[in-house]
Amino acid sequence: MTIKRVGIVGSGIMGSGVAEVAAKAGCEVVLRSRAQESADSMVAGLEKSLGKQVDKGRLEDAERTAVLGRVRAVTELSELADCDLVLESIVEDLPAKLALFGELDGICGDDAILATNTSTLSVAAIAAATKRPDKVCGIHFFNPAPVMSVVEVVRAESSSDATIAAAREFAEACGKDVVDVRDQAGFIVNALLFPYLNNAVNLLDSGAATRDDIDTAMKGGCNFPMGPLELLDLVGLDTSLAIIEALHAASGDPSDAPAPKLAALVAEGKLGRKSGEGFYDYSKK
Ligand code: CAA
Repeated sequence: MTIKRVGIVGSGIMGSGVAEVAAKAGCEVVLRSRAQESADSMVAGLEKSLGKQVDKGRLEDAERTAVLGRVRAVTELSELADCDLVLESIVEDLPAKLALFGELDGICGDDAILATNTSTLSVAAIAAATKRPDKVCGIHFFNPAPVMSVVEVVRAESSSDATIAAAREFAEACGKDVVDVRDQAGFIVNALLFPYLNNAVNLLDSGAATRDDIDTAMKGGCNFPMGPLELLDLVGLDTSLAIIEALHAASGDPSDAPAPKLAALVAEGKLGRKSGEGFYDYSKK
């Protein structure tokens, strides 16, 4: 594979999930968080996830050691200087991403590919923050990254064929099925999924059905693995709100506006599983 050393920026659920799949694919992984504490907790999370796989007999102990040996947690962005690919997985905030890509452009080698795991933001706008827009694309993993089988490779107008080919090769080496999509809000999955999730919150808020009945209905009625309210909790209500706001901004359609109840939960700090409460309470689980 062309890509041997991968940098991951961002210490959330997606960053650690992608670190796991990339290290299992044989890549050297440099995980960058702003604080050593979050970098260390990502490695601890990775150890736990690999430990479960060893317990289930799906991973050899020696392989776990080898995978962990390929992952290094750092706090300095300059440690990503010799990566072939840097995948950004920070907060869904365009100014923050533009600043990061500008910095990475100055740090990384001329041939390095800079990719974003954004769910909805413009890859073209992010590419324009660098002097290498041909080497910028989207590589969009889904949550939980070790489990979900698809990756969207997003081509901005400026992305070169070589960049897209290398991104595809990387995602395939991670064991994923790759779909190609143009750079537009929500790409394929989120453009279809989040209007549905948003409508589920409005349905709950209307009093038409209870939380549990909405989730049960969609699991049993559509064979979905999770109901919409459980899934929002998994993705994170703040992330979900940012995605819905971006889709709404792109369409300008008032019916795409974020559900008021979703915004209210985020304002209360109820962000789903990661904060211990969202539509469901996880504090006792
Ligand atoms: N990391 C690693 N493995 C995990 C995991 C995690 N976070 N969560 C679950 N798994 C594994 C389990 O170990 C288990 O593996 P085995 O069957 O091999 O033992 C398997 O996944 C199933 O897990 P569980 O039995 O614990 O639970 P489940 O059957 O209820 O499945 C689920 C859990 C995989 C999350 C399933 O409910 C599911 O697929 N849900 C839908 C997820 C989804 O739609 N994701 C997309 C979100 S949208 C998004 O990501 C876009 C964006 O940009 C924000």
